[in-house]
Amino acid sequence: PEFISVNNLADVVGVRPAQFVQRMEEMGFEEITYRDILDAETAGLVAAEFNYEAIFDSGKADLYAAPEIEDTSDLPSRPPVVTIMGHVDHGKTTILDWLRKSSVAASEHGGITQHIGAFSVTMPSGKAITFLDTPGHSAFLEMRRRGADVTDIVVLVVAADDSVKPQTIEAIKHATQAKVPVIVAISKIDKEGNNPDRVKGDLSIHGIHVEDYGGDVQAIGVSGKTGQGMVELEEAIVALSEMLDHRAATTCNVEGWVIEASTKSYGRVASVLIRRGTLRPGDIIVAGTAWARVRTLRNEAGVTISEATPGMPVEIDGWREQPGAGTELLQAPTEQKAKDVVDYRLEKSDTQKMGIDIVAINEARRELL
Ligand code: GTP
Ligand code: MG
Repeated sequence: PEFISVNNLADVVGVRPAQFVQRMEEMGFEEITYRDILDAETAGLVAAEFNYEAIFDSGKADLYAAPEIEDTSDLPSRPPVVTIMGHVDHGKTTILDWLRKSSVAASEHGGITQHIGAFSVTMPSGKAITFLDTPGHSAFLEMRRRGADVTDIVVLVVAADDSVKPQTIEAIKHATQAKVPVIVAISKIDKEGNNPDRVKGDLSIHGIHVEDYGGDVQAIGVSGKTGQGMVELEEAIVALSEMLDHRAATTCNVEGWVIEASTKSYGRVASVLIRRGTLRPGDIIVAGTAWARVRTLRNEAGVTISEATPGMPVEIDGWREQPGAGTELLQAPTEQKAKDVVDYRLEKSDTQKMGIDIVAINEARRELL
């Protein structure tokens, strides 16, 4: 969603805040202060009063991105993207490590996994699952803030000997707000003092109703130490993802998200999760105010691959600047276009970065041409 404060809107249309508020009251708004935040639609109405037009723009300039709601039923399947969340020390990394070790990609390539913020596990059935390795990470929150639905499934980890804790509740909030289905992993089931029933009861207090507790959320006791329950957890993820049946176009312009960015010996790199399209070396992409001509694509084992398809995490180099974690990635037709888009974005003011361009009506026409 796009928002702007009354103060900023007044500033953009060049009217003093007090006068602006008065005008809004004359328009029928009640108890307005200059600190109030207007949604895009309201801002558009008010701006029109001042002969300005609001252009809703999420910073994409004119790179094409597919509409959010589309009929995907005829498109190819893609791997589900799973995020592990839970309270500190409850065993998230241990579970991820177990899954990573069981991954075919890791064993095929000597098991030297690199940290690229996400990794892919191929199940015995041949189905791939992508795990986001950055729970609670700023990139995840940044993507959430931008309304990106990068995660298809949340695995909520709750330690059997510690039960629900503040960050568990936080994770429940994130998953619920994002309307992402949850699977509960009751971790450390091997430990003395484990009490899965208490965990289930505590979860229902916080709105997660597991099977046997009046709901249909799956809860699986696991130990990342002994491996107990881990196959069951994997199966639960596969079953849920098959039910959700995620699909994405592979032949359109590439769209994705930057999960992480860093500098390695071979240059600036970004871990990217592709949402639509197929990314190949030579492609030109823009993420925020950074652009790249893709030089090399690597999977999480550091192995060079020839293309990346939707749901696949991949490390890209060839960046001219370091892209920001959590930014949206879009394909550009030419280097010149990529540069133009970056320049346009760099020029935008802070209010415009909030997602609304308020421009004079005449100017609006010009910009739309
Ligand atoms: P943060 O990243 O710090 O939030 O922690 P985390 O949730 O990733 O937990 P992590 O996997 O690092 O595990 C925390 C501690 O619990 C470590 O000492 C692990 O060895 C231990 N631990 C994790 N899983 C299990 C388990 O299944 N059984 C037992 N006995 N110990 C576990
Ligand atoms: Mg951890």
